[in-house]
Amino acid sequence: MRTLDDLLANGVRGKRVLVRSDLNVPLDADGTITDDGRVRASVPTIEALTGAGARVVVCAHLGRPKGAPEAKYSLAPAAARLGELLGADVTLARDTVGVSARALVDGLADGQVAMLENLRFNAGETSKDDAERQAFARELAALADVFVSDGFGVVHRKQASVYDVAQLLPHYAGGLVRAEVDVLQRLTQDPQRPYAVVLGGAKVSDKLGVIANLLQTADRLLIGGGMVFTFLKAQGHEVGKSLLEADQVEVVKGYLQQAQERGVEIVLPTDIVAADAFSADAAHDVVAADAIPADRMGLDIGPESAKAFAARLADARTVFWNGPMGAFEMAPYAAGTQAVAEALVEATRGGALTVVGGGDSAAAVRQLGFADDQFGHISTGGGASLEYLEGKALPGLTVLEQD
Ligand code: 3PG
Ligand code: MG
Repeated sequence: MRTLDDLLANGVRGKRVLVRSDLNVPLDADGTITDDGRVRASVPTIEALTGAGARVVVCAHLGRPKGAPEAKYSLAPAAARLGELLGADVTLARDTVGVSARALVDGLADGQVAMLENLRFNAGETSKDDAERQAFARELAALADVFVSDGFGVVHRKQASVYDVAQLLPHYAGGLVRAEVDVLQRLTQDPQRPYAVVLGGAKVSDKLGVIANLLQTADRLLIGGGMVFTFLKAQGHEVGKSLLEADQVEVVKGYLQQAQERGVEIVLPTDIVAADAFSADAAHDVVAADAIPADRMGLDIGPESAKAFAARLADARTVFWNGPMGAFEMAPYAAGTQAVAEALVEATRGGALTVVGGGDSAAAVRQLGFADDQFGHISTGGGASLEYLEGKALPGLTVLEQD
């Protein structure tokens, strides 16, 4: 895999470099970015290129528009934020590969940055039809001399700007993709033990592959979040109105069995914060995990569980965390996620490698007031890092291995 350093060593002055970044940031109703982590993470690669005199063409997606322009999915907020962080103008084209984009790229001076509009405004970007994707990739490739793949959060997608364009231009892994892959390699190739994994989030069905894989590699699995109720049900407990994937109960029973056979410790909460509605001002109490009242829903792990989770992380040498422990966006249900974040911070101070795996978990730690440098690594890719840990081949990475 050729890297950014290889490209810089060849010299890039005056070259048009297409950089695929992941700028898929959460926006509030007014279009204000609520977590700019992905924009910040994209800066070093772009800065290294502009510093070396490249003409940088940044491309990215935002949300899931359906192959046509939609104002609410414009990359304008991301372009503005990137410009602030770079201390330079980032001009946004009005289209992806049309008249506006071509004129903008033609007008770039050495060291300047232009951005294309949301790639998913073009149906070719995400098409399942190879020819349609390749046609769009050819138009993207025509805008540049070289391709730098730096959108780690999308490397698990076989999409035009991630996969196909790399087959049309000399291609290099950007600094962010390199850094993310380095960390994932440390998790999968002989991790320091004990290796503990904390999994949360709403649905167990999103994490089946990764759980199966972690049962082979991790020493401890700590489970919280909405998916925990399917585990509690598999143990024979009633879960009231809590989130439950009834069709996964048998699968989870199999996992519990396998864990026992392999000596993998599965840590489940022993108490739960149970509320009578999904709302910050609903009545809520701490109840035993095996006695959730029929009219209540669990919205966080309880204080006794938070302590037990922290204790199982304290002596870990490697920790991977994906998914919040509860509905942390609402203050009454944030304590479990807060406690796990604090335990990771402690473990980091003690010299453990700690990795926060993308998306919601990254947003959660920042929203709860933690700084990025309190953890070993905060990934920009939730789905991508899970698929990597699952042992899947990621199209955006395998294509970079090819010549
Ligand atoms: C993400 O947010 O997970 C990445 O940006 C990929 O986006 P997608 O899930 O819409 O493909
Ligand atoms: Mg996603």
